[in-house]
Amino acid sequence: MRKPIIAGNWKMNLTTKDAVELVTALKRDLADVTTVDIIVCPVFTVLDTVNDVIMDTNIGLGGQNLYWENSGAFTGEISASMLKDVGAEYVIIGHSERRQFFGETNETVNKKIKAAQAQGLTAIVCVGEVLEERESGKTQSVVQTQCEGSFAGLSADEMKQLIIAYEPVWAIGTGKTATPQQAQEVHAFIRAWLKQQFSDDVAQTVRIQYGGSVKPGNIKELMTQEDIDGALVGGASLKSASFVDIIKNC
Ligand code: PGA
Repeated sequence: MRKPIIAGNWKMNLTTKDAVELVTALKRDLADVTTVDIIVCPVFTVLDTVNDVIMDTNIGLGGQNLYWENSGAFTGEISASMLKDVGAEYVIIGHSERRQFFGETNETVNKKIKAAQAQGLTAIVCVGEVLEERESGKTQSVVQTQCEGSFAGLSADEMKQLIIAYEPVWAIGTGKTATPQQAQEVHAFIRAWLKQQFSDDVAQTVRIQYGGSVKPGNIKELMTQEDIDGALVGGASLKSASFVDIIKNC
């Protein structure tokens, strides 16, 4: 049985005061939750402060990106060991906004996954098609190409340690959620691909989150789908009330 996992992707939002306020509320309102893994992914500048608030609670900490080198002359970048240093256990890799605005490719995603795993971070790896690809019937081939490139060279054991987030790009921040059936179809496709490429054990172990306009009102139905193991939540993770409700409804 895969444990549900809900992660809040704060994107480029919240400075220190608001971040502390939010996680303080989450810590209070989610203290009794044991059946769902809960993660928040703040901006780099507040990771340390947020870590102080959630240390020794049931809320885990993640970064939103990293660079694959460990240290050196890479102005503006941050490494896996630096994320570890401030208490992160997770890191989002290959978010569609990074692919779209910052030149992320399947190849760089692959390097980043390996760097994250070398430091013991759990990678949350995002895949998903844009609207035009969905409308022209290319969803599965796009997702397959992203999986093939992103997970190239990983062993079955390494694969089992990561989390996949299926995020149809057309559903991100648009209020347009994929229907539970549309999401399930792609999740099942990814799981079948994992089985074929690695093993049934890998396919049954890897948790696949759905992301794209997840709200308190649609999480329940999404979670009834066999292959949906949680959610990567953007907008609705910025308010404690909606993030708490998503977790409680899931
Ligand atoms: P959204 O973002 O929930 O605001 O659609 C999800 C994401 O980009 O991870």
